[in-house]
Amino acid sequence: MVQEQIIIDRQKCTGCGVCAAICPYRVISMKDGIAEHSGVACFLCDHCRAVCPQEAITTPLQSATLGLVTIEEKSEVIGPGTSNVPALVALMRSRRSCRNYRDKTVPLAMLLDLVKIGTTAPSGTNSQGWNFVVLPSREDVLVLGSMVSNYYRKLNRMAANPLLRGLVKIFGGDSLGRYYRNYFASVAEALRQWDEQGMDRLFHGATATILITGRKTASCPAEDALLATQNILLAAHAMGLGCCLIGFAVEAMRRAGSMRQKVEIPDDEEIYSVIALGFPAVAYYRHASRKLVEPRIVRLATSRR
Ligand SMILES: Cc1cc2nc3c(=O)[nH]c(=O)nc-3n(C[C@H](O)[C@H](O)[C@H](O)COP(=O)(O)O)c2cc1C
Repeated sequence: MVQEQIIIDRQKCTGCGVCAAICPYRVISMKDGIAEHSGVACFLCDHCRAVCPQEAITTPLQSATLGLVTIEEKSEVIGPGTSNVPALVALMRSRRSCRNYRDKTVPLAMLLDLVKIGTTAPSGTNSQGWNFVVLPSREDVLVLGSMVSNYYRKLNRMAANPLLRGLVKIFGGDSLGRYYRNYFASVAEALRQWDEQGMDRLFHGATATILITGRKTASCPAEDALLATQNILLAAHAMGLGCCLIGFAVEAMRRAGSMRQKVEIPDDEEIYSVIALGFPAVAYYRHASRKLVEPRIVRLATSRR
């Protein structure tokens, strides 16, 4: 029988109560000095197992490792304040969107490891409603690229027609007009460069792609998928890969059901990110610079408004 709830081993439990204190659903309580599960289904966040000093708790999702193949996995938990923060920040600042790739295939095992690393992200109510589609070769990327390009060819044909832009504005808002003003010319130029020079302005010559989808019924599918995405971007950089989010492909795939079918995304999932990947053909000497932000500091407790 498949284990569906946490199991507490009464022989091992010493009654320290840490699991009960940490449980977000409050399904664990202390009875006669021993932790007891109420039987109410929880969202299997796994905190109780991870925090138990006696290894007295098992959970259905329990897995000692991610099962990475191309990277050594370390089992020790890095406690708050004990990691190399300067190195972490430097990694974050060194990741750039890569638009120049070498003509070298990324081993499938690296791509699959990246997917596993993506799943370490948090997810709303621990639903883990994400899914991943791996296109492992440049040829696969080109097939997707040609489908996306065809979508924009059609869109540009429509957007070029002022009558149609006007009609759409009357009946469905200014989306086509906005597209015309913001993207029409650059997309037309990118399509021309593709057709005449074979220049890949969409996937930038990437040799692999990971698509991230989310189950529509999950509580926060977009956030879950995008958090997994960021984990993948950072890990890919650390693993020696370059990558770039391709929002143009996401937009096209959202609107063209046929494309989603082709890459085997079921109807109950939405696409949230398309990550182009490959070995980078460019090295940077400086970090990304960013606009300065001025956070609003609101002291609600003393605010008079
Ligand atoms: C949601 C999203 C969509 C993006 N779509 C594209 C895209 O279609 N093509 C592209 O070349 N870059 C795309 N990018 C990359 C951004 O242009 C890039 O993140 C930004 O310029 C900052 O540069 P950096 O990532 O190198 O720090 C996208 C980024 C995000 C977050």
